[in-house]
Amino acid sequence: MNRVLYIKASPREGRSHSIAVADAFVDAWKQANPAAEVKVKNLFEANLPPFDGAKVQAKYNLLHGKDHSAEQKQAWNEVENLIEEFKSFNRFVFAVPMWNFSIPYPLKQYIDLIVQPGYTFGMNEKGYFGMMKDAKALTVYASGGEYPAGNPLETYNFQSTYLKSVLGFMGITDVTEIGTRGTLMDSREANKKQALNEAREIAKTF
Ligand SMILES: Cc1cc2nc3c(=O)[nH]c(=O)nc-3n(C[C@H](O)[C@H](O)[C@H](O)COP(=O)(O)O)c2cc1C
Repeated sequence: MNRVLYIKASPREGRSHSIAVADAFVDAWKQANPAAEVKVKNLFEANLPPFDGAKVQAKYNLLHGKDHSAEQKQAWNEVENLIEEFKSFNRFVFAVPMWNFSIPYPLKQYIDLIVQPGYTFGMNEKGYFGMMKDAKALTVYASGGEYPAGNPLETYNFQSTYLKSVLGFMGITDVTEIGTRGTLMDSREANKKQALNEAREIAKTF
């Protein structure tokens, strides 16, 4: 049975364009999969722990094959709990605003917490490999401006390029992207309408 983790990275709820489009997807997906589970995780309300001192050191302990101190072990438990939750899902939906050409900081914090060696990625003689198996993601991006392919502005888009890369690093390479862009421009309503239609269409086969 597919289980969806729906990650909201906008604090704007009812006014958020990315959430409106991701909501439309999730509603349509639920209709098509009435028995399936969807868990919503709003990263602005999730009280994510900071990835600081003891947790960073615990990560380096893992990389260097060293044991954790009692403090590091306790700190690492918080990381393990978040990873365990993340890995218990096989479908991911992200509602992601562009903030200063990249992703909002709680999403980056979440990524720093869950992208860990031996849990979501591994290393061997050939290099790194993702440890998320049979997972796929839908990413919905909103931005005030537009960053079309081939336009010089495209190079400012570290939002979709970054999230897609880091998902792939964890092994989530099956990623479908929807953009509701130009949300601060006259094109916003037409763009949103198209994104909503795409979302409902994709939900039929996700
Ligand atoms: C802190 C902040 C930074 C932003 N930076 C950018 C930016 O770099 N480029 C852009 O096109 N829009 C930027 N915006 C506008 C948002 O991307 C836009 O309002 C978008 O609709 C937000 O997504 P949401 O509607 O899902 O909350 C920024 C907005 C905020 C609040």
